[in-house]
Amino acid sequence: MGLLVKNSEIVTADARYRADIACEGETITRIGFDLPTPAGTEVIDASGKFVFPGFIDPHVHIYLPFMGTFAKDSYDTASRAALVGGTTTFIEMVCPSRADDPLEAYELWKSQAAGRSACDYAFHMGVTRFDDRTPEQLRRIVADGTASFKVFLAYKDAFGIEDSELFRTLELARRLGVIVTAHCENAELVAQLQRRLLAEGKSGPEWHEPSRPPTVEAEGVHHLATFAELTGAHVYVVHTSCDQALSAAWRAQSRGVALWVETVIPYLVLDRTYAERPDFEGAKYVMSPPLRESRHQGVLWNALRTGQIDTVATDHAPFDIRGQKEMGRGDFTRIPNGIPSIEDRVHLLYTHGVAAARIDLHRFVQVASTQAAKLFGLFPRKGTIQPGADADLVVFDPNQRGTISARSHYMNVDYSAFEGWPIQGRVEIVTVRGRVQVRGSQFVGTMDHGRMLKREATHGT
Ligand code: URP
Ligand code: ZN
Ligand code: ZN
Repeated sequence: MGLLVKNSEIVTADARYRADIACEGETITRIGFDLPTPAGTEVIDASGKFVFPGFIDPHVHIYLPFMGTFAKDSYDTASRAALVGGTTTFIEMVCPSRADDPLEAYELWKSQAAGRSACDYAFHMGVTRFDDRTPEQLRRIVADGTASFKVFLAYKDAFGIEDSELFRTLELARRLGVIVTAHCENAELVAQLQRRLLAEGKSGPEWHEPSRPPTVEAEGVHHLATFAELTGAHVYVVHTSCDQALSAAWRAQSRGVALWVETVIPYLVLDRTYAERPDFEGAKYVMSPPLRESRHQGVLWNALRTGQIDTVATDHAPFDIRGQKEMGRGDFTRIPNGIPSIEDRVHLLYTHGVAAARIDLHRFVQVASTQAAKLFGLFPRKGTIQPGADADLVVFDPNQRGTISARSHYMNVDYSAFEGWPIQGRVEIVTVRGRVQVRGSQFVGTMDHGRMLKREATHGT
């Protein structure tokens, strides 16, 4: 059956115009005025609404064994939450522990998703160890369509890799033409600062940020950039939180390093005072890198507007306050790190970005969809509205208002970091490859409609 979205105000990263969008099967087939409505076509009237390309979240965790527990969402809950929040594709981090076999881990992560996702998805392959078998294993994973890696410079004794392994991973990535995404914090500095703070009796969630100050993150970015410079690999710094890390990224870019920058929605709208809330409420706001002093938010918004930040992701990593975050009462180093936001990213970015006149509509689409599609080998199938692209459309009403609350969210987690926050503008209808998955801001779709997206290596060889 066909789909016709009539009277759309189409907004992409570089255009804004009124037209109808015709879709057949999974694909956009025509864009034009007063398109005909063949029998059996479903018509959506988008008068007064924006129609955006499906949003892409390039950094999420769904299946995540971490810090002695597991992140709470499954593909069922996370993919529905993503869709009601306007995200039609996400890229999940495969995070094996150092002891795991990479190919087995990759298959395990794929099996968590297969047949259980309502939206489309892809993976970044975590490289948490590098030995003589790794090149062949990673080649097979890239050949399977997972054409990007993830490394952690943080999380000593968990996912973190040694410098020798980082070098070899980047050399291989360069040869294969895949981009390497990286969590940049110096693991040793974090470990030493944590030890010192705990020895001084500083054990509450408010000490998480001082254990990982901006200089620790900046060192991580500079470290990655130095390795990228000497190997020629293309790198992508995930969840950039602060001025100093941005400066390190900019210095690397200005000496020719192929480096891109992601921030995540919590850093744009929350500051470290949230993690300082009394009675352990601050634990809800513990993630790494940590929430920073509020002055960093202005720097991040400015970098987003001017193009120094390329993408806005979530780093969605949901842990309940009860039974999970609580494991870190009396020792902030044991609070599972993560702030859930897969459902809220687009609404918060529109409300605090577009409606607050910090970024314009095109930049909004660019950083929340198009640029991720380009960087990670999905463009123009995803990330834009044009004939031949997947019919992933978000009908968005800029005049609707709403309120974020754990009482109504789809995410499987017992709190919202944005409880009671108003949002301006609302995702109303969402299609994934031509099928209506969200209507009236509610999930109405099919749970197994999502597909794993196979991606080619696009970062040169
Ligand atoms: O606090 C965070 N960021 N949790 C998820 C794991 C990671 O570092 O991305
Ligand atoms: Zn990380
Ligand atoms: Zn992450």
